[in-house]
Amino acid sequence: MEKIGILTGGGDCPGLNPVIRAVVRRAELEGWEVLGFRNGWKGMIENEFVILDEQSVSGILPKGGTILGTSRTNPYKEEGDVDRLKSNFTKHGLKALVAVGGEDTLGVASRLSEEGLPIVGVPKTIDNDLNATDYTFGFDTAVNIAMECIDRLHTTAESHNRVMVVEIMGRHAGWIALEAGLAGGADVILIPEFPIDIDEVCAVIKRRHSRGKTFSIVAVAEGAKLSGKEVAAEKLDQFGHVRLGGIGQAVGELIEKKTGYETRVTVLGHIQRGGSPTAFDRVLGTRFGVHAVELVKEKKFGRMVSLRGREIKEVPLAEAVKQIKTVDKKFYQVARTFFG
Ligand code: F6P
Repeated sequence: MEKIGILTGGGDCPGLNPVIRAVVRRAELEGWEVLGFRNGWKGMIENEFVILDEQSVSGILPKGGTILGTSRTNPYKEEGDVDRLKSNFTKHGLKALVAVGGEDTLGVASRLSEEGLPIVGVPKTIDNDLNATDYTFGFDTAVNIAMECIDRLHTTAESHNRVMVVEIMGRHAGWIALEAGLAGGADVILIPEFPIDIDEVCAVIKRRHSRGKTFSIVAVAEGAKLSGKEVAAEKLDQFGHVRLGGIGQAVGELIEKKTGYETRVTVLGHIQRGGSPTAFDRVLGTRFGVHAVELVKEKKFGRMVSLRGREIKEVPLAEAVKQIKTVDKKFYQVARTFFG
């Protein structure tokens, strides 16, 4: 029986299980066996895997997270890991590997593919910052969760006449904060792509309050920069990324100090990544999974499935990981229309 492998790497996100299910169901139509490697690239290095069949993927469609587990393991970090990974690939006689991940996991996939491994990529991340695809699954769910949280903050902000600062994930891109902020009617949205002028933020809030409003909501992306700098922990992960967090608190303290309005800060954190995927993310994950197996069938390796408009296309993996996709000025300008 011919075999293909699948792994999920990087931060988890809602929609991964629909992809796994779709890959298994589509591969079974070809008569292929699917090996699910545990915890991202770690499972391929350590040869930890499970056999996936119709039975094992039954009921996982609405579940958040990934039944395979995930990690931020970088096989190019430790000497010998890439060789172990390649030897496991050969030992199983894999026809191909479906790598499901964001810029880091797919960056490794792209490199391994250039070195000759038959790999296809599936883009995932709540951050929606992957190049060469209009959307990644996970993003829609995260935006909806963050929007609902902003709705909830509105009622308590209004009752207490407070400024509520809400810190939203997204790494170095402001997509989640921008869309959740717009959908939730935030009064100011701060994102990494455009520098924060704290005096301007305070002026917007004061102007709003002078018009009779007694509360404000400020949505801040975790990667937004204050005085040109991100707020982050010092420790780096295996791909050299900082762990962002703390900008909400910093912005909140400055707003309270400069305006005199009582201010509270909420950090949404991993709530945005947990739980059941929206219908959009289930369908996108499913379409990506089916298409990934079709790419394997056609031997179109070194490619990533991608959403362009309403259609599923494929693009070179290298193109997907060459740079991140950030928010453009025109879109941010739409949000600015509603500031204050
Ligand atoms: O990339 C997804 C993401 O949730 C980012 O928005 C966030 O900065 C990061 O992962 C958090 O990573 P971790 O789960 O390792 O804390």
